Amino acid sequence: MSIYQGYLIEEKEGAYKGSIQTISTPEIEDNHLIINVEYSSLNYKDALSASGPKSGVTRNYPFVPGIDAVGKVTQSMSDRFHVGDEVIVTGYSMGMSVYGGFGEIIHVPANWVAKLPSNLTAKEAMSYGTAGLTAAASVKKIIDSGIDKNKPILVSGATGGVGSVAVNILNKLGYEVHALTGKSSEDEFLKSIGASTVVLREEFMENPTRPLDKSIYGGAVDTVGGDILAKILSMTAPKCSVSACGNVAGMELNTTVFPFILRGVSLIGIDSAESSIEFKESIWDLLAGEWKVNLEDSTKTINLDSLGDEIEKILNGKQVGRIVIKHGE
Ligand SMILES: NC(=O)c1ccc[n+]([C@@H]2O[C@H](COP(=O)([O-])OP(=O)(O)OC[C@H]3O[C@@H](n4cnc5c(N)ncnc54)[C@H](OP(=O)(O)O)[C@@H]3O)[C@@H](O)[C@H]2O)c1
Repeated sequence: MSIYQGYLIEEKEGAYKGSIQTISTPEIEDNHLIINVEYSSLNYKDALSASGPKSGVTRNYPFVPGIDAVGKVTQSMSDRFHVGDEVIVTGYSMGMSVYGGFGEIIHVPANWVAKLPSNLTAKEAMSYGTAGLTAAASVKKIIDSGIDKNKPILVSGATGGVGSVAVNILNKLGYEVHALTGKSSEDEFLKSIGASTVVLREEFMENPTRPLDKSIYGGAVDTVGGDILAKILSMTAPKCSVSACGNVAGMELNTTVFPFILRGVSLIGIDSAESSIEFKESIWDLLAGEWKVNLEDSTKTINLDSLGDEIEKILNGKQVGRIVIKHGE
């Protein structure tokens, strides 16, 4: 029986804790692949999965989180993939109810799997991870729906995983990017990844949100939700679009219909985990090609030993940029 190492979350006396454990490799099922994971990445959802069932991501423990994985196929029961293929897996139920990329081995349905584009390394793919996929999907959808190139585009949660990649991509595409952040200490970092202006959350939220405010922004990528998203909507210019993917600032949205009916603003929901594999592949191609950004300076690479500390940081809103997890030596 073959075994592998994984970061297993277990319940002990009511508390959920992670540790590196030896796990048995499952038997391959029909239409599935077994993949040797080279890299994974840390996303907010992984931190929720690692926190136990109350956070609503994972129901059954012991469990190995990790919604992202890149690696080589070692066994295939699918015509689409062969042993040795380099592949990326993000989302669907991986890291929620199916053991994920925080283990050295994953066993997943072949229709969750995308080929690693030839112009992207395994590590680059995980520097993006679900955060990058979500950022690129958000940018693509607001551009397709309509944004105003003559006005700044706002990105909220700008130092976070999704936010920082969105700032990078929008800058690369030639937009003026305003970065909304709670971290006054990260002004330099945000400017280094392409923000022309850094807006502090405290100042942004200082005045009460009006049904319609001055329409400053030509579009926005919101990663935090709650009252911040409501304020962004009130400040979005006519016929422009805002994407919503996250809820770290709250899941309620107290707004009025005015931005929609008096300014024709569009609010676009993003669910990257459950997007079709064809859509994911099209976004990976963009990220490997025309939209490729260098995330080296905003990515920290760790191994499973330091995962617990990084999970703590992301849960406390203290994470900056992206965390890549390297398996093996
Ligand atoms: N729908 C989807 O497909 C999808 C996919 C990926 C992620 N998500 C969601 O998107 C969100 C961001 O994910 P992520 O992986 O980028 O997480 P992350 O790295 O932790 O980034 C979140 C950022 O939000 C800001 N923030 C934290 N707490 C906040 C608060 N209380 N109020 C306002 N802002 C706060 C912080 O940035 P600043 O300090 O710079 O403001 C933080 O770095 C999460 O809610 C996640 O679940 C959704």
